[in-house]
Amino acid sequence: MAIDIQSIISQMTLDEKAALCTGASNWSTTPIERLGLPEMIVSDGPHGVRRVPDIHSMGQHSLPATCFPTASCTASTWDVDLIKQMGVALAEECIALNVDVLLGPGANMKRSPLGGRNFEYFSEDPFLAGELAANFINGVQSKGVGTSLKHYAANNQEFQRFSISAEIDERTLREIYLPAFEKAVKTAQPWTVMCSYNKVNGTFASEHYQLLTKILKDEWGFEGFVVSDWGAVRNRVAALKAGLDWEMPGPQDLRVKAVVEAVRSGDLNEAVLDESVRRILRIVLKAKETPKGGDFDVDAHHELAHKIALEGIVLLKNDGLLPLKDHQHIAVIGRSAESAHFQGGGSSHINPTKVAMPFKELQSHAENAELTYAEGYPTDNSFQPGMIDEAVGLAQSADVALLYIALPTFKESEGYDRQDLDLTKQQIALIKAVSKVQPNTVVVLNNGAPVAMSEWIHDVPAVLEGWMMGQAGGAALADILFGRVNPSGKLAETFPLKLADTPSHTNWPGGAGKVHYGEGIFIGYRYYDAKEMPVLFPFGHGLSYTTFKYSNAKVSSTNFKDTDGLTVTVDVTNTGKLAGKETVQVYVHDQKSDLIRPVKELKGFAKVELQPGETKTVSIYLDFRAFAYYHPEHKQWIAEDGDFDILIGASSADIRSSLTVTLQSTLDLPCVLDIESTMREWMADRRGRQVLGTLYEQIETQVRRLFAGEGRYGNEQAGEQVVEKEVMGMDIMDMMIDMPVVSVLMFQQSSLTMPAEEMVAGLLRQVHGMK
Ligand code: BGC
Repeated sequence: MAIDIQSIISQMTLDEKAALCTGASNWSTTPIERLGLPEMIVSDGPHGVRRVPDIHSMGQHSLPATCFPTASCTASTWDVDLIKQMGVALAEECIALNVDVLLGPGANMKRSPLGGRNFEYFSEDPFLAGELAANFINGVQSKGVGTSLKHYAANNQEFQRFSISAEIDERTLREIYLPAFEKAVKTAQPWTVMCSYNKVNGTFASEHYQLLTKILKDEWGFEGFVVSDWGAVRNRVAALKAGLDWEMPGPQDLRVKAVVEAVRSGDLNEAVLDESVRRILRIVLKAKETPKGGDFDVDAHHELAHKIALEGIVLLKNDGLLPLKDHQHIAVIGRSAESAHFQGGGSSHINPTKVAMPFKELQSHAENAELTYAEGYPTDNSFQPGMIDEAVGLAQSADVALLYIALPTFKESEGYDRQDLDLTKQQIALIKAVSKVQPNTVVVLNNGAPVAMSEWIHDVPAVLEGWMMGQAGGAALADILFGRVNPSGKLAETFPLKLADTPSHTNWPGGAGKVHYGEGIFIGYRYYDAKEMPVLFPFGHGLSYTTFKYSNAKVSSTNFKDTDGLTVTVDVTNTGKLAGKETVQVYVHDQKSDLIRPVKELKGFAKVELQPGETKTVSIYLDFRAFAYYHPEHKQWIAEDGDFDILIGASSADIRSSLTVTLQSTLDLPCVLDIESTMREWMADRRGRQVLGTLYEQIETQVRRLFAGEGRYGNEQAGEQVVEKEVMGMDIMDMMIDMPVVSVLMFQQSSLTMPAEEMVAGLLRQVHGMK
């Protein structure tokens, strides 16, 4: 029987309503026993369940749960079904651990590789992040457990994360920082969305009416409730007015009182409070439809974590050394072989059910190999040459050196940003020293975000990016190293050559309370493409032990309406000797646009499994949004008439096929010409062209006359243009064309019958009156 939420609200006192809008503990809603309203329990997320036994505790050791790979690794799978399966497993663990809502996934963009929490975020690309977030949510929620899509919005750094204002222009916000949230909200309806700590353009995200109410709820149709990040609310009443429904953590008696007072004094409309209460109640009651308790399948989930790691680990470089052979002496060097580095620090830290130790896994995979071990580097930042000497000795006597290098937590964690892209001094020296004596050196990395490799990459034949690979990652590494499984992960973020190359470098991390997103829409590969800048490993890159051929690329139509979209198909053949998986990526390039656009943008992808010699046809649909960009003057997504290139590739830098298609826009955009509009803008506008048309020619003649040498203008056969150029050293119209019509007319005021402003006002009346 459907519960009548309005009737419950009508029975609630003002104090009860205000209390419901704030947590009762660190992890729960306020129950109202009188009305039979239960408490609802939330827990971190995102890649495991961090359920503390006592909901009044913040930092208690959490109950054992599966630690899945973190988002950098899961994103590198490019496998939406797998992410969904992970969501299902997470929900099963929530049910067993009595958790109603899991605090994840994180859908923020990796603006800089320095972001301390990048390991918790999927990508530098909003399309990829949106697809993954939506599937994660669908997986969890298919089991009747809620999610919290976080951190909305523009939470892209840890430096001053509680206070900094992310200064972002509207187009950049719409095209880069919001779409992953938009996609997830529109297609997966997370039960909750968590607002971020930071300010956006001067206003706390928790008090941001435009973000929380106008965009999230009104425009995208978000039906759940907004929860604050823990401690993100400054002014509770302002936050409620903006659309922040639930404040966390609780209890916060003073805040509850403030809300009650605000309603009594008339400062806060009770209807606003009621709306938040309604949203929270809807989810609390929904959560209770899923009975909690029981067990989860520890082994099956460990196996799933293993599978995800297998798909997410990226083979960055391989000069033929991998896969390794049995029957050889392998020197295993690096403390992360014995002490797996598989997750990051902070609120996402999981107490794993078990951990696959890389060294042990190697032993079980290579029974005929001789494995020896040296620690290689210390836990801290000290420099220990003795450890390097020991490792070099070991490597010298072996056939192969396997270096397990983990970026230490003092260099990467929630709560602080990275200072550089480097490994520790000891780790770099270790790689250099070992690779000098042992040409067969493999570097296995465990880190949540790109590291610089220029100092050593040329000396090592193979590099495997193991990420924060989750509790089963040690086994996945061994599977890939010994070729039991063919690697298929591809990068969801660019690996730059050096820090100074990164898009936000000169705007990072900001100061004086602000960080300017000066690079605008050009983050990640959008930036490197635009600058034609070499990178260490491009977005979408990842090697395999087999090879793939792309052929027969086609589009459903070369001339299409924006509203119909387009289907791209391509045949992919496994041309090698091993079974493998390939991720086909489709990028779109707009040949000509009113505003500058990236060289290309990812708009579709698909992962396929192929046996040796097998061919499959991959089909990818591109919708309106694949061709559109956000126009800040029209305040909407527009796709302009004209030619687009459809680029089909194995990475952003490895485009295998390119097709050109022509889009017909069905949009009838309103005229946005105003008093400041330039001559060019008038002429580019369908209606503006009609109105300004003949006048334009007169203006041009006048302008040329005005700026030409006296008496010498007007006779084109006599080469007056040349004379004019001589006078000003330029073609005056090249400048005038980008001046407001009103300014151009000002120069001709003496020959006009009315003031220039009045004249343009008249033209504007005409143009805005047209259909
Ligand atoms: C983090 C959130 C997390 C919350 C609860 C905050 O500091 O930013 O991601 O869900 O704490 O632990």
